[in-house]
Amino acid sequence: MRKNIVAANWKMNLTKKEALSIFEQLEEVQLKDNQEIIVFSPYVFLDALKQKQKKVKVGAQNFHPAPHGAYTGKVSINHLLDLEVECVLIGHSERRMLFNESDELIKTKIDVAVENKLEIVFCCGEPIDIRNKSSHCSYVLQQMEANLFHLDHEQIKQISIAYEPVWAIGTGKTATTEQAENMHRFIRMCVEQRYGFEISNEMSILYGGSCNATNSSELFACENIDGGLIGGASLKAEELCKIISSL
Ligand code: 13P
Repeated sequence: MRKNIVAANWKMNLTKKEALSIFEQLEEVQLKDNQEIIVFSPYVFLDALKQKQKKVKVGAQNFHPAPHGAYTGKVSINHLLDLEVECVLIGHSERRMLFNESDELIKTKIDVAVENKLEIVFCCGEPIDIRNKSSHCSYVLQQMEANLFHLDHEQIKQISIAYEPVWAIGTGKTATTEQAENMHRFIRMCVEQRYGFEISNEMSILYGGSCNATNSSELFACENIDGGLIGGASLKAEELCKIISSL
């Protein structure tokens, strides 16, 4: 059954007290069988969230692909496994652009996370100049081909995709439902061409980019939009709970 997911990407925000307060309120939300909440937290809160966890999945926003070693300041997948973290975010545009993550590095991180049986939310999406040239489909296909489509038919089942047009992230400029649904349909079609109908039909494809409690119902009502990856609007429990209720 295809899952409907609201995933919070807290980025580099919140205090521990605020994080725990939001998390505890999320744990009270009633979910249907096919619904799921994921919180991608800063590393420093992961352990505390895991102590409070009942059903909300706990995810990390990043990790270093080496298992251990002399990488001062970095966190490995073994650290995440030790905390029993369930999910990781890979390929976010902020990591690609602000931290120069290459396709090669993203592919390696996908492989490490797959090997370690973590769930992965893989982010893709085009910058504004690509959208203006109407090259967004080929751009996103290239990202999936470079980062993801080397996986086999079993491995790909660990992946959910988040389509996040870069021009909509943190700008208040949400993609229209038509733009978002068209892109999600395209992404599902690409997955179908590579992996077949069943796998593409089961895959959750989330929308991210200025998604909030005002626009989430309309976006989530689209056939190929299975929830959202929420940044700014995930920092307030009340707004996030409203977004979840529109799943
Ligand atoms: P905003 O919801 O703040 O636009 O951020 C989206 C995002 O980057 C989630 O990963």
